[in-house]
Amino acid sequence: MLGFFDSGLGGLTILKEVIRLMPDYSYIYLGDNARTPYGSHSQDIIYKFTSQGVARLFDEGAKLVVLVCNTSSAAALRRLQMEFLPEHYPDKKVLGVIIPTAEETVKMTNSKEIGILATEATVHSFVYPREITKLDGEIKVHQQACPLLVPIIEAGELEWEGLDLIVKKYVGQLFERSSAIDVLILGCTHYELISDVIKKHVPDSVKIFNQARVIAEKLENYLECHPEISEQLGKDGKRDFLSTEDSWRVKDLFRKFYGEKINPRKVSL
Ligand code: DGL
Repeated sequence: MLGFFDSGLGGLTILKEVIRLMPDYSYIYLGDNARTPYGSHSQDIIYKFTSQGVARLFDEGAKLVVLVCNTSSAAALRRLQMEFLPEHYPDKKVLGVIIPTAEETVKMTNSKEIGILATEATVHSFVYPREITKLDGEIKVHQQACPLLVPIIEAGELEWEGLDLIVKKYVGQLFERSSAIDVLILGCTHYELISDVIKKHVPDSVKIFNQARVIAEKLENYLECHPEISEQLGKDGKRDFLSTEDSWRVKDLFRKFYGEKINPRKVSL
């Protein structure tokens, strides 16, 4: 099975795209809805929560886990790969979303100024500026933390008029730093769910990077290059959804964001 981990619902936007591209594999998704948002926590807490989620997915049978969460990828991926896997799951793999995003966005900018909207933890990790400037040292990365967005999305308040004002403020603050930004990264998988609201406030000339599509394509490519992994994943089209919260709200939001009726299985981490 291919495993997907997110702090909550945002990763479903990537899972949907992956399944559209590769429908035959077996998939398992875990959202830590009971403890979301991760983005306002310290690196240590995010590492602890993420490693618990990843362990659960491996114990359920996943061979490869993708952290479909920028915050977990920023705060925990490296430590998972360097310490956690060698010690506990030496034959398994964990991938993240930041390096693939950096690789694609450096190709998209002409002005060499990239903007990013992300959680506080992702912004404070400086992983995006680091990975992007490793690929092209001339690029400037402007970051804007958006701490209110994930709680609003997880509450399902996508139609609330206050959301528009908050997005306008965050986007305005980002473009005040530089009007030369020509590529905008939605550096949190939850933001895809409000991309229409974000687009309204972003200048038309700015390209908004679609993380879901690119991550799905890169994953397909990765599996083609690693047949020894893809052969272990199972191709019976099974879908399994887990959540750390069993509530009417979570079930409703899974259905809304995945587009099908889903009854996530409640797990404790
Ligand atoms: N989907 C997560 C991300 O991509 C949301 C983080 C959070 O829980 O704050 O960053």
